[in-house]
Amino acid sequence: MTPDIDTARAQVTEAADALRSRIGDAARVGIILGTGLGALADEIDVRESVPYGEIPGFPLSTVESHHGRLLAGTLRGVEVLAMQGRFHLYEGYSAWEVTLPVRAMATLGVEALLISNAAGGMNPLYRRGDLMLTTDHINLQGANPLIGPNVDEWGPRFPDMSAPYDRALRDQAEAAALDRGIRLQQGVYVAVVGPNLETRAEYRFLRMIGADVVGMSTVPEVIVARHHGLRCLAFSVVTDECFPDALEPVSIEDVLAAAGEAEPKLTMLMGDVVASLG
Ligand code: HPA
Repeated sequence: MTPDIDTARAQVTEAADALRSRIGDAARVGIILGTGLGALADEIDVRESVPYGEIPGFPLSTVESHHGRLLAGTLRGVEVLAMQGRFHLYEGYSAWEVTLPVRAMATLGVEALLISNAAGGMNPLYRRGDLMLTTDHINLQGANPLIGPNVDEWGPRFPDMSAPYDRALRDQAEAAALDRGIRLQQGVYVAVVGPNLETRAEYRFLRMIGADVVGMSTVPEVIVARHHGLRCLAFSVVTDECFPDALEPVSIEDVLAAAGEAEPKLTMLMGDVVASLG
């Protein structure tokens, strides 16, 4: 639940103040690294690494594959703040808690948010290991981080969602992929709450309503980032093929293995987009 308006403001201010005193407020680009996709962090010239436990109001990531720390430093010469480990609704956090880090980053002056995630591919042309640039999303989580009182300094009561994923950033990503010879799919991400994967009937339904991939994250963060007016870009790694008539069982190990294999391509593309922001 979103707390009352004074508590909401205070929580974000407290997190942002604590971060500012440790890492300053030079960062212009925020990065959220998805499940099994933490390697971009190795390319960051890290000045300061802050465990989430030391940031007031930050939840603690309960997923083992996530590290749970905020890195401040430079990536290809650009000041970034990177979340290594993110929060999910399926861990029991509210949409407010999941997105508090985004509000803190926005308060510190971050202007663009780059996100990666692991997702199931439902478009029959997608293959395990493919990268997908998100062109749009569908929120089927039954939750929304903006429910509750609106803090007008952060953004409007009814934020526009006609183009959540920034056209210019997408163009940069596409150009980088062409340049490097990396196949980059483009499509729609549908967010579900999880934690179970979908049934065949659910994959068939999600495909029919217009989604190309399905995952359990990203949409709350993008909604809040757009509330603050941040430019957003999101990449999915297709970690499993979700074709209802040929569905195979999938384990978290399979998901992590596919994420690990695709990670070098993703790291290059995200690095290129960040460099273009310098
Ligand atoms: N469904 C939902 N989330 C996912 C999947 C999936 O098939 N694969 C990776 N994350």
